[in-house]
Amino acid sequence: MNRRIHINLDVSGKPGGADNGRFVARDAVDSANGEIARRIYVDEDIYKQEIQHVFKRSWLYIGHESQIPKPGDFVLSRMGDESVILTRDAKGVVHVFLNSCRHRGMKVCRYDEGNARNFVCPYHGWTFKTSGELMLVPGYDEAYKAAPFDKAKWGLVEVAQIANLRGTIWATWDASAPSFKDYMGDMYFSMNLALSPWNGSDDEIELLGSPQKWVIPSNWKIVAENFAGDMAHTISHASVDKVGIGPNNKDGMTEGRRDDPGELALCTTPQGHGVLYGISPEGQEPRDYAVSPPTAAYFLENWRERQKLQGNKGRLTPVVGTIFPNMSFHGQQPRTILVSHPNGPNHTEMWRVYFVDKKAPPEVKAFLRRYYTRYSGPAGMTEQDDMENWNYATASCRGSVAEEYPFNYKAGLHVGGTHPMIPGVITQHPITSEQNVRSLYHRWAEMMDAESWDSLRAPTAADGGRQ
Ligand code: FES
Ligand SMILES: [Fe+2]
Repeated sequence: MNRRIHINLDVSGKPGGADNGRFVARDAVDSANGEIARRIYVDEDIYKQEIQHVFKRSWLYIGHESQIPKPGDFVLSRMGDESVILTRDAKGVVHVFLNSCRHRGMKVCRYDEGNARNFVCPYHGWTFKTSGELMLVPGYDEAYKAAPFDKAKWGLVEVAQIANLRGTIWATWDASAPSFKDYMGDMYFSMNLALSPWNGSDDEIELLGSPQKWVIPSNWKIVAENFAGDMAHTISHASVDKVGIGPNNKDGMTEGRRDDPGELALCTTPQGHGVLYGISPEGQEPRDYAVSPPTAAYFLENWRERQKLQGNKGRLTPVVGTIFPNMSFHGQQPRTILVSHPNGPNHTEMWRVYFVDKKAPPEVKAFLRRYYTRYSGPAGMTEQDDMENWNYATASCRGSVAEEYPFNYKAGLHVGGTHPMIPGVITQHPITSEQNVRSLYHRWAEMMDAESWDSLRAPTAADGGRQ
């Protein structure tokens, strides 16, 4: 018989459910026992608190350098529910600005990407340099003659901190947030591997085309947790596997199937990040490429170079992961980043980009374009399987009966350990563990309940494993 649990999820200030009228996340997220109340996925007040406490404070993925190679180049991105501009100014400095005019809030940039000398607001013409300064207010000399204002104080709102990891640009609104490296913790190691080119060197990678964007009726957290390392959902992809184009079949792989598939290891960190690693057996090469001979040769040659350059580390593939809160990635097959931007509690705007080695021959890029779009994105067969699960799971949380029953995240409780090759808390196959997901929600609850970074306890390894 199902057990009905009483989780305090009151947000109206009733005793036991709220702290000064505010939602108390640790009452809803029991990460130590792997039980989470469904209302965190659909409640409007919880969502508002989430935007303030999680998205306004966290380091968020913005975009990639290859999207803005020249001075004046810009692309739009998002931080939480707000539009931001990623741009390179006339001197080549990279900035991230809130896409909101300081006069009356109109978007100063309404193109997804392009090159601009300045950002001219279409409402009343206030004009901002690509470095953010307010340079022109039409009619300024007359209108503000009696009461001039200091234009230097009315430039575009800029993020507090910005960081670059192998060309990926990250930013936070919070000046008191830890450094990007501390925020990433042991996951810095994983992202370095995931974002390196196929040969494991410092060669450049670049975006293939523009971001794909689409909206799904799902809460963003259900997307983030899926990519954090939900190993148990391969059953969802049975149909694409059957026709030979899924992630578990050699015909869907860019690196071919191996004699011995090696090991799988789940890794999480106290900062709430999670990744699933593939570990190749020592000395084994990929084989059985189901692609054209020149493309197969490219992957094989680069695989060999990677092993030479990285030694034992070259055996590690960060297959899929999530950087808290909402940046998810596939490290090699395919190599892509998905950001699940929140559009309210019940909708998520998905932004997916794909990467290729800059030096890869056109034939390889063309192969990857076909492979990526068949696998991921709104038309991707594998992504469609996932989305169907997330959409129904979110809808279930709105049921007046269903909302009383928590979700179960108990797989692999109390089994996390360490691994000689990988930093972080590790659980290895054949144990199917939900440690990464528990870790993500544990961090989410901590941030939801904390007033600021200063009051946020430094995470410990035990937080990461939720053992
Ligand atoms: S809102 Fe931008 S100039 Fe008025
Ligand atoms: Fe999936």
